[in-house]
Amino acid sequence: MTKQLSGKIALITGGTTGIGLATAKELVVQGARVFITGRRQKELDAAIAEVGANATGIRADASVPADLDAVYAKIAKNAGRLDILHANAGGGDMLPLGSITEEHFDRIFATNVRGVLFTVQKALPLLVNGASIVLTGSTVSIKGTANFSVYSASKAAVRNFARSWSLDLQGRGIRVNVVSPGPIRTPGLGDLVPDEHRQGLFDALAAQVPLGRLGEPEEVGKVVAFLASDASSFINGAELFVDGGMAQI
Ligand SMILES: NC(=O)c1ccc[n+]([C@@H]2O[C@H](COP(=O)([O-])OP(=O)(O)OC[C@H]3O[C@@H](n4cnc5c(N)ncnc54)[C@H](OP(=O)(O)O)[C@@H]3O)[C@@H](O)[C@H]2O)c1
Repeated sequence: MTKQLSGKIALITGGTTGIGLATAKELVVQGARVFITGRRQKELDAAIAEVGANATGIRADASVPADLDAVYAKIAKNAGRLDILHANAGGGDMLPLGSITEEHFDRIFATNVRGVLFTVQKALPLLVNGASIVLTGSTVSIKGTANFSVYSASKAAVRNFARSWSLDLQGRGIRVNVVSPGPIRTPGLGDLVPDEHRQGLFDALAAQVPLGRLGEPEEVGKVVAFLASDASSFINGAELFVDGGMAQI
């Protein structure tokens, strides 16, 4: 049976843990060759060992334009084109209004907004006509969340990028969509609170999900694979929530 992403070349930024790693594994299972990035070499090496022969790791910080140039130079040399771009690198921490610092704002927007913008813009020469771009958003972009306004605003910006870029890319057949997870059991979610409060956070979040549980990274990876594939060929500029219903009710 032909796999749905056979022969496709994909880049997943922030592909060393959590949602990005699960997506890399799913895309490879579906037949793609993947490049993954992350800032930490040890995690990158471990991820490459886990994903297998069809994965290449490139250490790069998505908020540093020169790193992105190096990523695309390597992909150009090794693969010559890109069919799938998952701009996923991101994260954030919590501060209430009143305590927000310039450093907090700049750091979160540097990766989640500026990083996503230049990850996509610098990919354009390599992206084939008909390519699929998937941005990682979040349910928080359409909800209010205490202490999380800067991160939430950064994801609201990502949501609009997909709307506007779908128009900018008219004529190339390139689709731009957002996958917006609810609470997903990843290192990034757990790191929002000290170790001793992790289970409490997970339980509190699960209680807000109609399905009564956290999501698993693989459940997001499968949706990214769908958005990357021809099975979603008429889905463009959309936001697909993978949240157990959390932001839908
Ligand atoms: N987990 C959730 O509940 C949830 C919900 C909604 C949205 N999201 C979004 O999903 C995406 C993935 O998060 P996750 O939960 O899977 O977190 P994670 O396990 O912490 O993974 C984040 C990945 O991104 C990389 N990364 C972070 N900053 C980077 C940068 N500046 N440049 C390059 N790589 C970077 C990390 O590696 P290095 O640290 O080594 O760079 C890691 O590979 C993020 O955009 C996050 O905002 C997560």
